[in-house]
Amino acid sequence: MGFYPKKVNERFNSPKHIGILEETNAQAKWASFVCGISVSFFLLIDDKTKEIKDAKFKTNGCGYVVATADFLCENIIGQKLTELHGLDDLEVEVIKEFNDFPDNRRHCLDTCFDALQNALAKYRTSQIEEWMGEKALICTCFGVSEEKIEAEIEQSNLETVEEVGEICNAGTGCGSCQPLIQDILDSQGFD
Ligand code: FES
Repeated sequence: MGFYPKKVNERFNSPKHIGILEETNAQAKWASFVCGISVSFFLLIDDKTKEIKDAKFKTNGCGYVVATADFLCENIIGQKLTELHGLDDLEVEVIKEFNDFPDNRRHCLDTCFDALQNALAKYRTSQIEEWMGEKALICTCFGVSEEKIEAEIEQSNLETVEEVGEICNAGTGCGSCQPLIQDILDSQGFD
């Protein structure tokens, strides 16, 4: 029995996805203020198919961080951004895999998710910079513009990000456009 629970220990001792990707088009670092560690994710995303072709991570964190980041890399490789469901499914998977993950190490898990979400947001920003359409593109996973979201909110009296997702898919892929959808809801909501 090691210092960590069995499954965390196994991954900590032999992570498969630790390191830096030579070729990457989405990378980001995130730090935890709780314990002062940082996690970086490096992704290679196919611009046409939006499939995550490869993923690696780097961290100075503990075994819980290494295990979570390694598990995340393993589970996103081969997935399309449109299949990520805002990372909710992945969170369920991580908790199921490490079911003995103690509550007081929850910030280790959160830091990994924040770092991954940030890398996806960076990719999204790079796609928007290349976007040639006239209206602002909000959701790059599903190609949904600001105009379309505004129209759906008005037409169906939508009040939440989830409701917008149900109607036009925006925000239900990688999830990194959800704060912008919330901004649109806020700006349209009360006048
Ligand atoms: S940009 Fe990925 S869900 Fe909207």
